[in-house]
Amino acid sequence: MKTDQSFLTDVKELRTRARASIGDGAVTPAYRGDSKQAIEILQTVLATEIVCVLRYTMNAVVAAGIFSESVKQEFDQHAKEEQEHMRRVAERINQLGGKPDFNPDGLASRAASQYAEGADLIEMIRENLIAERIACEHYRELIRYFGDNDTTTRVMLESILTNEEEHANDMRDLLVAHGR
Ligand SMILES: [Fe+2]
Ligand SMILES: [Fe+2]
Repeated sequence: MKTDQSFLTDVKELRTRARASIGDGAVTPAYRGDSKQAIEILQTVLATEIVCVLRYTMNAVVAAGIFSESVKQEFDQHAKEEQEHMRRVAERINQLGGKPDFNPDGLASRAASQYAEGADLIEMIRENLIAERIACEHYRELIRYFGDNDTTTRVMLESILTNEEEHANDMRDLLVAHGR
């Protein structure tokens, strides 16, 4: 059976183009996004993820009270996953030719979510729920933004979003379990 493949770029042409712009790394001529803008956006995502790592780690350490063991474990698990998100976003910035911004100066203002401490266990859970909901909203918008122009970044954000939705759900379950 013959299929119409005229929309595909000839392999030879692909190779020539890949060779011509070898200094651009993973950003090939068929990349339709604005890589400079993509890097800028991903720096805010990176900052958001770093803040999440810090907040959950701090929460896991200080969580105290009668239900603290299970809550601590949940916070620890989330901290680990936020660290994976952080790493993936940083790798993507690097692939796009940028330098991931890990500078602690101005970190909180670069992030989409806030670093809120929460005075007790319930408040911590609530602050985490808020932060997760902000991250979900932010990532949903960015997924639409990247669309078909940068599918790799979009797919990465989609998989992170799935995980953030689970985090939000976990926090809501904890609130319910604590009668809030
Ligand atoms: Fe995350
Ligand atoms: Fe999260």
